[in-house]
Order: sequence, then C-alpha cells, then structure tokens
Amino acid sequence: MMSYGYKPELSEGAVKCPIFQTSTFAFKTAEEGKAFFEVAYGQRELRTKEELGLIYSRLNNPDLEILENRLTLWDKADDCAVFESGMSAISTVFLEFLKPGDLLVFSSPLYGGTDHFIKHVLTKFGIDILGVTTRQTEEEILTAVEESGKGEKLAMIYVETPANPTNALIDISCCKDIARRYSSSEREVYVAVDNTYMGPLWQHPLEHGADLVLYSATKYIGGHSDVIAGACLGSKDLIRRIKTLRTFLGNMAGPWTGWLLMRSLETLKPRMELQASNARKVAEYLKAHPKVEEVYYLGFISPDDERTYVIYKKQYKSDGAMISFDVKGGEKEAFAFLNSLKLIKLAVSLGSTESLAEHPATMTHCDVSKEDREAMSITSKLVRLSIGVENYEDLIWDIGQALEKA
Ligand SMILES: Cc1ncc(COP(=O)(O)O)c(C=O)c1O
Repeated sequence: MMSYGYKPELSEGAVKCPIFQTSTFAFKTAEEGKAFFEVAYGQRELRTKEELGLIYSRLNNPDLEILENRLTLWDKADDCAVFESGMSAISTVFLEFLKPGDLLVFSSPLYGGTDHFIKHVLTKFGIDILGVTTRQTEEEILTAVEESGKGEKLAMIYVETPANPTNALIDISCCKDIARRYSSSEREVYVAVDNTYMGPLWQHPLEHGADLVLYSATKYIGGHSDVIAGACLGSKDLIRRIKTLRTFLGNMAGPWTGWLLMRSLETLKPRMELQASNARKVAEYLKAHPKVEEVYYLGFISPDDERTYVIYKKQYKSDGAMISFDVKGGEKEAFAFLNSLKLIKLAVSLGSTESLAEHPATMTHCDVSKEDREAMSITSKLVRLSIGVENYEDLIWDIGQALEKA
C-alpha cells in the first residue's frame, strides 16, 4: 500500500507520489498522441510492450492509476475504476449494464441513496426492478423472478452484504447460481456487490462469484471523514466498459482525491483491525446493557440460525466495526441517547477513525417506504454505530452515560 505501482525516478525521486494537479498531458509527438487516443477510444488493442500514455485527467491521471492498481490487490481483481463518490460508482455500473426492458434484482435493505436510484431513477428509464429480502431462500428468489415474467430479461443481481444498517447477510455464491441460470452464450447476467460495510479487508466478493465489487471509498478506504470517493473492481473487460462510460459521464475522481486515498491506504489495515477489536468490546457492552433490547452485530450470529451462520463463516474474515442496536422504547429514547453522546459524533457515514452514531429510520434510510423499513427491522428504536480507533474505554463510557439518559 506504500510503494506498489509508483516509480520515484519518474517524479524527480519523490518518495511519495506527487499530486498530478493537471488537466492535460503534453505528448512528445503527434504520432504519440494519435496512438494514445486509438487505444483510449477502443479503436485498437494495446500492442505488446505498449503502455497507454497519459492524455487528459478525465481519461487518466497518475494519482488515479496508481490508486486503482493498489486497490486491485485486496480484492485480487484484474482492474479498478475510481470515482468522485460511491454513488457515482454505483450509478455508472447500473447505467452501463442495464438498458430499457431489463430486469434488475436487488436485495433489501440497501443504502438509502442506492435504494432511491433504483426505485426513482432506473424506473424512469424503463428498467424493471424486483426487490428480494435477505431472508428469502434461493428457491424463493427463483420463484419471484419466474413470477415477474421477466426472467429472460434479468441483467443484474445487485446486493449489499452485510446490509446497511441491519447487518443482515446474503449468500453471494447463491446469487451467482441464480445469475448463471439466466445467463446464455449471448447474454451474461452479472452479480454486483456493494462491499462498503466490510471494506477491502473483511470480505472478498469476487472470490465468491461476484463479477463486480463496489465501494463507497468515503468509508474505510478514505477512513478519515475528509473525502468523498467511490471504486468499482472486476475483470479487465467489465472495468474497461465502466471506465469508458466514466470518461463520457466525467465522474472520475480528481487527482487530489486520488492522492488522499493513497495516503489513507497506507494505514487501511491497522485502522480497520483496531476498529474491529474496539467494536467487539462495544458490542459486548451493549449486549449486557439493560436499556438495550437487541444488538445486530456479526459476532453475535448464532450457530442456531444455521443459514446465516453458514454464510457468516464462509464469507467474512472479521466481525467488522458496524453495530446496530434497538434501544428499549422508540424514537424518543433513541434520540435522547444520540443527543447525549459526548465523544461519539452524531453523524451519518461510517468506517472512519472517529466513531459515529445515527438514526437510520429518520436519516440514512428516511427515503425507504415505512412498510419496507418495518419489514427490514429499520424501526424508530434502531441506532447505528460505526466504531472508530479511539480508546474503547472512552467509547464505552460515552455510550454508558448516553444510555442513562435514554
Ligand atoms: C453501503 C453504502 N454504499 C454506498 C454509499 C454511497 O457512497 P457515497 O456517499 O460515497 O456516494 C454509502 C454511503 O453512505 C453506503 O453506506
């Protein structure tokens, strides 16, 4: 994460990759400019030993390219495309792989912004959508697809696992099995997984059959609540398609964002590991607290819940640092808790060095219909915590004093 893909000799010996704050790059000759454009616009493939040169920062820029190469390492992906936000990565994937008349199957709950884009934007372009819940079995999902009468139009299965904010799990390989059933030699059904909740460390969707992995890089990858960014990873062919659309939408990340993310990547692993170990201590404290009704945390998935437990063991390398819990009571008690926090910030977002708390039903997920929210256990008593790198005793003290007021 500190040196991969960067050659100091190309930048006056600078130990760290400089910020290439330039919109355009000078070609050595007109012939070189012509060759770069031929490759960038897909008019021909790269020749042996030929490298795509730098053209214009909407197409390519060293800060983005080095960052993208580093990000591929965690997910063992062929390639990566970075964006100016998680939502731009997600919306670009939808726009590239779906066309009017196609069917999109998506899991619920999803991050509120993605949920809005699917229900209110994609549907405007004639894309059919079918929501499935984390509780449905493979057979039940297949039946729902059949009953929609659009099985032969299925183009993508899009999931978030663990789901935001409930930590509910979905079996990625089961999604791939469904996608395979509806794929043909002319048309492949893709599986895309939003892996924001687990960051690049704790779950590797490509290993389980996903075709694309998406991140809000604003979260663990950025990790300091000071940058908005997104990333998408997958095979060379799929990322080439995504980068081509990105060029024309113009929603790539800028060099400054790329540089900030590279700086963040150097500490990604120690940050995330400390966040996860703090989260375990906080989750245990919450579980034993008389004012807490239920704690939703990966580490508390019981072998008695056999189906979820099998997914948990198969897909996760850590219990993560996201905890949701039901405070006893409702919105009044949840708000009293949130308003009384002194150290933990009352803010949306997650995966950062500082701990954050929010109320999904009225904040991140307020746009989800009330019936859907209830079906997904996003109730007025639910509070979501993102645990940071503070001293865990300070966090527990803060939660304890705020629960007193709830
Ligand atoms: C799971 C998940 N996916 C995607 C996003 C959107 O990312 P961004 O805010 O970087 O656009 C978020 C933002 O909170 C998120 O939590």
